[in-house]
Amino acid sequence: MRATDIIAKKRDGIELLDSEIEWLIKAYTADEIPDYQMSAWLMAVFFRGMTDQETAALTMAMAKSGEMVDLSLVPGIKVDKHSTGGVADTTTLILAPLVAAAGVPVAKMSGRGLGFTGGTIDKLEAIPGFKSTLERHEFIDNLKKYSIAVTGQSAAIAPADGKLYALRDVTATIESIPLIASSIMSKKIASGADKIVLDVKVGSGAFMKNKADAITLAETMVRIGQLVGRETVAVLTSMEEPLGAAIGNSLEVKEAIEVLSGRGEPALKEVCLVLASQMLVLGGKALTPEAARGQLNALIDSKQALAKFGEFISAQGGEVGIVSNTANLPQARYALEVTSSCQGYVKTINAAQIGYAAMRLGAGREYKGQAIDLAAGVILKCRIGQYISKNQPLATIYSNDDSRLEQAALVVKQAVSIDSQTVARPPLILGLVAKNGFVID
Ligand code: URA
Ligand code: CA
Repeated sequence: MRATDIIAKKRDGIELLDSEIEWLIKAYTADEIPDYQMSAWLMAVFFRGMTDQETAALTMAMAKSGEMVDLSLVPGIKVDKHSTGGVADTTTLILAPLVAAAGVPVAKMSGRGLGFTGGTIDKLEAIPGFKSTLERHEFIDNLKKYSIAVTGQSAAIAPADGKLYALRDVTATIESIPLIASSIMSKKIASGADKIVLDVKVGSGAFMKNKADAITLAETMVRIGQLVGRETVAVLTSMEEPLGAAIGNSLEVKEAIEVLSGRGEPALKEVCLVLASQMLVLGGKALTPEAARGQLNALIDSKQALAKFGEFISAQGGEVGIVSNTANLPQARYALEVTSSCQGYVKTINAAQIGYAAMRLGAGREYKGQAIDLAAGVILKCRIGQYISKNQPLATIYSNDDSRLEQAALVVKQAVSIDSQTVARPPLILGLVAKNGFVID
């Protein structure tokens, strides 16, 4: 086969064969096809799109480009969850112990944060002693013993995706639904998930800015799941404002403990319950999402979910005392209250800007490998629709570097817009896509 022929075929809108896609991905991963040819192919895909069959073939070719984690020795249906990324999205820290406490094994391979979005591995590393890289046998042993294990995603998982993503990033080909869908699904499949729950974020702070695009992405991923035998459900959730109140690693661990204790920001808790309910149904532990929700609330009320979080921390070498006393988490030396200079109703909260402020405070990285301040970040004290009086706190910001506070305070202040008219709260759950492609509004 020749790369030029495959590029020309895609350019002319002719459906590629599975064998052609497999060959292309294999050869590119092995450095046998140069970036300029792959770039041309990506741009052709961008304009021509891909059929479901092509998208599924691309997904599996990328999944098989590296290690395919085998979790078949772990009893039960392994259900993974993926979020398309947002701000104050602490769902994994809450869902993993919550769902594990209900008896569904949760095997997660997570990433680090970059730019204005956080990463689960950084958050977990805020817990003193926590070991975020597990050998494959430790990962599987912990899963068998505790039904929960979280490790950093190794470079061995879907290396073709890593290479292609870097190329897409510099060739203006990120924003293609089949490329995004196959990228996400390939990593979940290579990580060993039997079934997958997707949290597709919609709104100004998300990758998908509008509902129509989010539905198309969700439907594409659900259909890929069907074609490759990994049942997938996607929930569309709002990212018009940060989901929780906390943005920053140590601050988000604390918020996760709050939610697992039955408190915390209601929107964050609601999204967790909706996603966890779907995970329980897919995992065979509940017949309906409503029944699942009852079980999950009981696990929170009885403190079993919180106890599972403690067990998980201890199993990965972390200091379990943080669960009962969050003062043992890293604390910032400096804090500053950001107050409103006017009164009125909160109209918009620019999640990306809040995420950016947290990054500037030290909570995130501008480039890969940059050191971060685990205690830094933002606690948001307002929500869309809320009435704010003049001088009322909008947020408290934290850092170990006091020279960063003033500029970050300004960014946070500018991220919140206030209007004299009352403002309706945007809906939190925008719909659900399951195997019949049905979307519930
Ligand atoms: N997230 C991914 O993992 N891949 C994409 O292509 C876009 C978002
Ligand atoms: Ca994430």
